[in-house]
Amino acid sequence: MGINFKELAEKYQTPYYVYDFDYITKQYQELKGAFKARKSLISYAVKANSNLSVVKHLGDQGSGADCVSIGEVKRALKAGIPKYKIIFSGVGKIDDEIREALQLDILMINVESEAELKRVDIIAKELKVEARISIRVNPNVDPKTHPYISTGLHENKFGVDINTAKRMYIFAKQSENLDPLGIHCHIGSQLTELAPIKEAVNIVADLVRNIKSALKIELKFFDVGGGLGIVYDDEKLIDTYEYAQTVLDALFGLDITVVCEPGRFIVGNSGVFVTKVLYEKVNGSKRFVIVDGAMNDLIRPSLYDAYHKIEVLDKNENKSDCNVVGPVCESGDFFAKNIELPQTEHNDLMVIYSAGAYGFTMASNYNTRGKVAEIALENGKDRLIRRRETFEDLIALEEEYLK
Ligand code: LLP
Repeated sequence: MGINFKELAEKYQTPYYVYDFDYITKQYQELKGAFKARKSLISYAVKANSNLSVVKHLGDQGSGADCVSIGEVKRALKAGIPKYKIIFSGVGKIDDEIREALQLDILMINVESEAELKRVDIIAKELKVEARISIRVNPNVDPKTHPYISTGLHENKFGVDINTAKRMYIFAKQSENLDPLGIHCHIGSQLTELAPIKEAVNIVADLVRNIKSALKIELKFFDVGGGLGIVYDDEKLIDTYEYAQTVLDALFGLDITVVCEPGRFIVGNSGVFVTKVLYEKVNGSKRFVIVDGAMNDLIRPSLYDAYHKIEVLDKNENKSDCNVVGPVCESGDFFAKNIELPQTEHNDLMVIYSAGAYGFTMASNYNTRGKVAEIALENGKDRLIRRRETFEDLIALEEEYLK
C-alpha cells in the first residue's frame, strides 16, 4: 500500500481511516472489465463506504449507486452520480422516501414486498408519474456466509419468493403507474463460493424468461446484487472473470443489461484503520493492549466476530498473546482476541487492515466519542475527506433544547 502511517498520524492525529483511491479505481475497472461482453452498470453499494469523496471518485469512473435510504440516494446525487444510474432498495421504505425517490426521477425503485408495490403504485398515481421498478427476488439459496450477512434464504427478510414476484409483475403490468423494468437478487455478503451465486442467477434468469414468454414483459435490467468477498485473512476468492462469465452464461439469449452492486469488493481493501497504543496491562495472566480507537469506530469484530489483520507499526519482536481493546465501557469492545503481538509502548501506531468497507459507515458516537477523520490517498498525495468530529459537533443538535 505504501502509506506513511506515521506522517498521517502527525498531520491528522489518531485514530483515522485512510483509503487508497487508486486501489478503488483498480477494483472498479476490474469488475467493469469482466462484464465488457455486455451492457453493464456497476452500481456501487454506497452503504459500504458512503463518504462523498469516495462516492464521487467512483462516479468519476462511471459507477452508479445502489442505495438503501433516501439519505444515500441524496448522497449519491450530491457526489455527482447521475440520477439514471441510481437504484433504491430496502425492505422498509417509508412513504416520504418513495415520494422523494420518484420526484428525483432515479433509475428505479427496487421493491421488496407486494404491500410495498401497492404503496409505490398509489404514490406514483398521486404524483402523476410512472414509477420505474424492479423486484427483489429471494431465490432461497444458501450463500454460505456469516448468518448476519446472509440475505438469500426465505428465512431472511429480504425480497419475495418466485410466485409472489410473478404476481407482482402481473400487478405492475396492469397498472398505468408502474413500469416493471428490472429484476434483482442479492444472496449475501462476503461470498467466497461461486456455486450459490450460479444457482441464484440461474433461478432468476429462468424467471426472466418465464415472465417474457408468459407475461410478455421484457425486463431491461438484471441486477445480480453485490456480495463478492475479499481477503481479510487467507480466504480463497471467487475469480472476477469466472463470476462475470457465470452471470453472462445464465443470461444467454436475453437482451438485458447486467447490473452489479459491489460494495466490499470495491472499497474493503482500499482502507485501513489506524489507532494509537495508549497502555498495556495484565489482568492475572491476561495481557491487554489498550488503543485509542474502539468498537464505535469499527464495530465488525464486536458485531460479527470478524477478523481484521492487525500490525504494530515498525515492531515485530517479542510477541505474546493479547487482546486488543478500546476505551469504550463494554466487554465487547475489542478489535482482536488472543492474537500474538509484540510488546508495545505508549504512542505506538497500530494498523487494522481491510477496514475500507463497513468501517466508518457503521461507526457511532457511543460514549460521546467523535467520529474519526477520514483521509484519501490519490497519486501519492493525501487529503482530508472528513474532518474529525469535535465535542461541539456532538452536542450541536441538543444544545438549544437545554433548559
Ligand atoms: N446490494 C444489496 C441489496 C445489499 O444488501 C448489499 C449489502 C450490497 C449490495 C453490497 O454487498 P457487498 O458487495 O458489500 O458484500 N455490515 C456487513 C455487511 C452488510 C451487507 C449488507 N448488504 C459487514 O460489515 O460485513
